[in-house]
Parts: sequence; C-alpha cells; structure tokens
Amino acid sequence: MTQVAIQFHAQPAQSVRGELQVPGDKSISHRSIMLGALAEGVTRVSHFLQGEDSLATLQAFRDMGVNIEGPDEKGDVTIHGVGMHGLKKPNKELYLGNSGTSMRLLTGLLAGQNFDCVLTGDESLSNRPMKRVAAPLALMGAAIKLEENSVPPIHISGGKKLQGIEYSMPMASAQVKSCVLLAGLFSEGVTSVIEPAPTRDHTERMLKGFGYAVEREDNVVRLQGGGKLTACEITVPSDISSAAFFLVAATIAKNSKILLKQVGINPTRTGVIDILKLMGADIQLENQQEIGGEPVADLRVRSANLQGINIPENLVPLAIDEFPAIFIAAACAEGVTRLTGAEELRVKESDRIQVMADGLTLLGIANTVFPDGIVIEGQGIKTEFNGAQINSHGDHRIAMAFAMASLRATKEIIIEDCANVATSFPGFVELANGVGLEIERKF
Ligand code: S3P
Repeated sequence: MTQVAIQFHAQPAQSVRGELQVPGDKSISHRSIMLGALAEGVTRVSHFLQGEDSLATLQAFRDMGVNIEGPDEKGDVTIHGVGMHGLKKPNKELYLGNSGTSMRLLTGLLAGQNFDCVLTGDESLSNRPMKRVAAPLALMGAAIKLEENSVPPIHISGGKKLQGIEYSMPMASAQVKSCVLLAGLFSEGVTSVIEPAPTRDHTERMLKGFGYAVEREDNVVRLQGGGKLTACEITVPSDISSAAFFLVAATIAKNSKILLKQVGINPTRTGVIDILKLMGADIQLENQQEIGGEPVADLRVRSANLQGINIPENLVPLAIDEFPAIFIAAACAEGVTRLTGAEELRVKESDRIQVMADGLTLLGIANTVFPDGIVIEGQGIKTEFNGAQINSHGDHRIAMAFAMASLRATKEIIIEDCANVATSFPGFVELANGVGLEIERKF
C-alpha cells in the first residue's frame, strides 16, 4: 500500500496548558473486537480507538463474516458476535497494516479454526519477528508457515486439533502470551503461559469480563479450552501510551500544567509514570475509579526539573511503548540516564534504540547505544535542542516523541515519515496544538 508522505514541522513552543482527553487504548480496542466477535450476543464498545491498527483488526473480522457496526463519530462500535465457531473463511488475505498486535493475536486465534488463511502487513510489519508466536503454536499442533527469516506473511492451515501446553516465554511479551491464550480457547485441556516478567494483562481481564475463567498464580496464567464467551459492554479508557507524550511535554516545558482525563492506569502499563516520577516529574493521579474492569484516573502534570536515573529493569516491560517519549525526558534531565534490558525495543515498529539515538544526536544530545539499551546525557535546565530534520522511519511513537522536543528547541524540528501516527493517535496534531504546541502537517 502506498502512503502519502507526511512531515511534521514543529516550531519552538514555550509551554503546554489545559485539559485534554487522548483517544482510546489500542490494546483494549483490539481485544474488544476479537473477543466481541467470538462471543455469543451483542457487544457494545464505547471510546473505541479509531486508529488504523485497531481498524485493521475490525476489518479482519468483517472479512471473516462478522457484522460490526461503527465506529460512529463518538467511537461507539457494536459487534454482533458469531460464537466460538462462527468465523468464516475470508475470501482474501487478511491485511493488518502496521499492527503487530493484530497479527500476533490473530495468529493464535486463527490457529484453531477449521479454515486456512493468510495474514499480511505493511513493510514494517513484514519485517517483524513472528517465530515467537509460530513456535509455541507449533507445540500446540498448529500448522503455521512463515517466510524465510521468520517474518510475515503468515500462512495458517486450519482444521488442526490443538492441544493445551505449558509454555515458558523466552521474552516478556503480552502479544505472545495473548496469542497462546487465544489459541488455548480452541485447544483440548489446559493452556498455561509462564511470564519471565509481568506484561500487560488486558487479555486476561477482558476474557474474565466476557465470562471466561482465567486463573493466575504468581507468574503463570492458565485457562481451559472449550469454553464460551458471553457478550458484554466495554468502555475503553484513554491510552496511557498516547498520554505519555503529554506527560513528557508538560514535564519538560516551562510554566506548564495539564490535566489528562480518564487515562487507563492498569498497573501493567504505568511504568512510564513510575520512571518519570523517579526522575522527579510532578504527576498526580486524581479521580481514580474502575471502569469495566480497568482502573482509570485523571493525570495532573506540572513542569519539573528532572534528574538522570538508571531505569530499573523491572519497569521495562511496563513502559515498553513509552521509551521514545521517555528518551526525550532523559535528554532534558540533569546527568546521565541509563536504560538496560530493553532489547525488545529493537524489534518494534522500528529499531527504537537506534532511530531515537540518531534523532537525539541531530538534536545535539550525546548518547551511546548498546545492544539492549542506551545512555543519554541530558543537560538539565540547560537542554536546548538544535533545529533538525529527523527521520521517524515510519514509526508513530518516534514521530510523536520528537514533536514534543519542540518544547525545548531553539529552531524548527522537521520530522519525516509521519503518516503512521494515524495508526495509534488520530487527531494528534490538533490535540497537541490545542494545548500549546505548534505543529504543522506538510504533505
Ligand atoms: C501489546 C503488547 C506490547 C506492545 C504493543 C501492544 C499488546 O508488545 O509493545 O504495542 O496489545 O499486547 P509485546 O508484548 O510484544 O512487548
């Protein structure tokens, strides 16, 4: 698929102020479609993320015969569930765009169906590692074929009888865990996944919300195959991964104060708050409540002077998508920030360690790259970024992170290849400009 080349031209901006609500959580939006489609009855979803990634999941289920209404302008979606065995063979390849979550979770969900299918994606997704899902599924008895180098397209042959397994994950990955659990729904016996470190638990929480028993014992998650899902109502909280850019913005910009409304604060996702607070950020959680099985809060953020830290490795999986934003905060902190144990960042939508390092260098920030992390030498209150032209390599979170750097820049920052911001954060430029940034989109 060809995409229009979009650049962000971000002018130096002074401060951010105001109240805003970022779009719905991407992980929860994907799962609402997947589980809603397999459920018996009608599932209603509100504040669904109208980003290209979650819409790719939605389209894939339409392609498999599921009647899904919406999203309407408010983000409401109605899914007419077809039951565990009601999906139909798609009459074409399922195209999943840029979305690793769609591809990895769907591979698990489709491994136990009685039809064949093929999953494809864009250039970035077509280069991402898929052995991590194909390997456990093969142990369960699935027939999955990858390209050479273990990348997509993924060819799934249906009609296989799957067996539950106990799988010890070699890396902390919620996508792999979810893939195996979703295959487990269609397997004989018990499926258990052992996590080397806690990862986001939306699949487990949402399965329970759909009435499916899931057990957790320390680092093991377990379910029994052959059950059924019952439709429910889902309100998707605002995505903490999108809020992260504004947490950093209000922290690094002078005289700033913002309120981010109704952000999901599931403890498996709040590493970014913990890391920024360890650096000295002023972030307060207000109006905490539980909505549909997920904790949410309003986040009040004020400007703060940050200190460099050694980022605790246990927080890495809990902040895995937020490192591009955290690196911008580190560049504004006094002294060295050191990240280790984060090799997974190299296989995200781009190699986020190298691509961020290249951009930081252009902005005038010294850094050293390691296989599993980076050292960033911040200059504290003296940090003033150079003007620069930075390539985001089509990575949405890299593009948005560098847009925030304009709050401490002396000259314009141009960011290339920004079309994929629409995968996770539609309306990003408008929302950012509404609180004080000055970003122009150029085609
Ligand atoms: C996701 C899990 C994470 C994250 C991705 C969404 C999910 O990936 O980076 O954006 O919804 O399960 P890994 O589990 O591969 O770390």
